[in-house]
Amino acid sequence: MLTNASQVLLRNSDLVKDQSVLVLNYESDHLPKALLDTASNVCGLALDYHHHLMMQPYACADLTLYFGHQLPTDECFDSVIVYFPKAKALAPYLFNLAAKHLKPQGQLIVVGENKGGIKSLPKQLPGYFDKAFKVDNARHCIVFTSELNAPAPILKLTDWINRYQLDTPQGQVTICNLVGVFSEKKLDEGTELLLANLPKMRGNVLDFGCGAGVITAALLKAQPELKFDCVDINAMALASCELTLEANGFKANIFASDGLAQTSQRYDGIISNPPFHDGLASTTNIATNFVKDSAANLKSGGIFHIVANRHLPYSDTIADNFGSVTVAAENNKYKIYSNVK
Ligand SMILES: C[S@@+](CC[C@H](N)C(=O)[O-])C[C@H]1O[C@@H](n2cnc3c(N)ncnc32)[C@H](O)[C@@H]1O
Repeated sequence: MLTNASQVLLRNSDLVKDQSVLVLNYESDHLPKALLDTASNVCGLALDYHHHLMMQPYACADLTLYFGHQLPTDECFDSVIVYFPKAKALAPYLFNLAAKHLKPQGQLIVVGENKGGIKSLPKQLPGYFDKAFKVDNARHCIVFTSELNAPAPILKLTDWINRYQLDTPQGQVTICNLVGVFSEKKLDEGTELLLANLPKMRGNVLDFGCGAGVITAALLKAQPELKFDCVDINAMALASCELTLEANGFKANIFASDGLAQTSQRYDGIISNPPFHDGLASTTNIATNFVKDSAANLKSGGIFHIVANRHLPYSDTIADNFGSVTVAAENNKYKIYSNVK
């Protein structure tokens, strides 16, 4: 099943007939593979690890697939397709990345949902692209094309970081937040409540949905002896977490995981401000799966300590899976849940 954006792209696939194509930020479907019916070869870069895992079984000589915030090569393509990102702040980065991988006069194709901000694309495209031209508008999505008309600026990750000092109850830490990553400009209020109510942890700890690494950095400031696994599904978040920990002189295992699926050990502690959005849709499945998997991956006597919007149904799920639940702190928006009495 293709997403709406992919369906509209596919009915315009003549745009890439017999071309080499790069698909940036592709969605939760098999569009890169479907394009092979028209294009001569396709390369896909997923910024979401779940999307990468879905496509990976289809990799072949004409379909190369990567997960990350950049391609590992400097290869240039006839066309680059950009899925307009849900996090709008990421769009300029993707346009720069697209330009880096386009041949001179190469074709840029941008697709996105009307409600996601693509309508103003002509105003958003940087000057090294021609004026954007609307080629299709269907299924609540728009497809624009443009052409690379000048060399793109060199892509340096450091140009895309928002770096700020954060005073936490554990001490001051430096946060390096790449565009589009959670809490880009300032600390999230939920994370703030979590940091103000951190338990003493021990041993090996999982920071689930680490984002820019705020929670790990604060905890390591207070307890440098802890061993952290930091996981996230988002490539920009993982890169941010690496930069944050490096900026503070800390080390941790930072890796991509969809839920807890790619973790391989049991933990003395699991700490998180877990996600509650799947793209533009809010879902409680994420909460349920996360709690269930955490209970299965926590050592006996381990600490499960998370913050969540108070309207989310965490309490019963935690009690069901851990046998007990405590609200360690709360305010009018968030609650801190713990399995420890
Ligand atoms: C609410 S943010 C918290 C970020 C960071 N810990 C903080 O407090 O600033 C949740 C994070 O979970 C990540 N995420 C979303 N779905 C995920 C999944 N299925 N597996 C792992 N991480 C996920 C998001 O990319 C995001 O960085």
